[in-house]
Amino acid sequence: MKHHGGWRHHTTPGAFYLRYSLPFDRFILTFFGLVPLGRVIAIANQKGGVGKTTTAINLGAALARRDMWTLIIDCDPQANTTGGLGFSKDPSRRTIYHALMHDVPLRDLVQKSPLEGLHLIPSDKNLVGATLELADRPEREKALRNKMETFRKEFNYILLDCPPALDLLTLNALVAADSVIVPVQCEYFALEGVSELLDTLIRVRRLHNHNLAVEGILLTMFDERTNLAHQVRDDLRDFFGDQVFSTVIPRNVRLAEAPSFGQPIFLYDPDCKGAASYLELAQEVINHDEKGAGSRAERPPSDS
Ligand SMILES: Nc1ncnc2c1ncn2[C@@H]1O[C@H](COP(=O)(O)OP(=O)(O)O)[C@@H](O)[C@H]1O
Ligand SMILES: [Mg+2]
Repeated sequence: MKHHGGWRHHTTPGAFYLRYSLPFDRFILTFFGLVPLGRVIAIANQKGGVGKTTTAINLGAALARRDMWTLIIDCDPQANTTGGLGFSKDPSRRTIYHALMHDVPLRDLVQKSPLEGLHLIPSDKNLVGATLELADRPEREKALRNKMETFRKEFNYILLDCPPALDLLTLNALVAADSVIVPVQCEYFALEGVSELLDTLIRVRRLHNHNLAVEGILLTMFDERTNLAHQVRDDLRDFFGDQVFSTVIPRNVRLAEAPSFGQPIFLYDPDCKGAASYLELAQEVINHDEKGAGSRAERPPSDS
């Protein structure tokens, strides 16, 4: 079994372990003998409006609900994750921009979200500037990865919410990540879009990040009642096989409402279908890791 995120075997008798997380000054006691540490997952699709941000917020929240110490880094200048977690616009707040451009350590940028166990490194619109300013630096695609090296072990999971473009920010996220979740809306050209993104992943893997894996393709905003949704789901499963998550995120108005209240779904409406689906997704992600890093997560994005 190959380890890529940074795993720790906890061999304490009774499978108890105690983790002391310095910057947060807390103890976490869990029953797991083996807990993934520092797994970095990018949430990427060059298309906008496919559910990246909704997935970052609510998968992050669901992982936290499942006792995983979780951080979301908002890598999108549109800052929807930042807003969706209740952080209003504030030009004086330091953001991921300050890490990339001014060498502020990531741990100084971590904010607590309203949900226990879930943390955020915010973004704001001046992150657009980073794309331009980074452009003439050496190793410009590795800026985020280099910052993450030791820091990542302070969390079980770190999710990177990407902008809707294959730009330098998305490239930085893909280079920093162990794996990628590709949210896909069940619509007519879904297959083409995913193929294009997987081509990019193969290229990034070859050039910059040999360990980059596909965590899974995630069907979002699935509408039970339409034939098209079922057709698209079946096509994606035929074509990409078990790279498609078994969990499907339904279209659920509560998921769309929650961000305007600055809340993850588990605070806004913990009993809705959307909340249940993100909890199931979190379990699927954790299972990948617990089952020996998951054969799926091990596999390169193949062009089969
Ligand atoms: N499962 C869902 N059910 C209903 N609305 C959703 C769902 N997922 C996302 N949305 C809505 O669709 C829009 C686009 O989603 P978002 O997560 O912002 O996409 P992206 O980050 O890829 O641009 C948002 O208005 C969001 O609230
Ligand atoms: Mg978004």
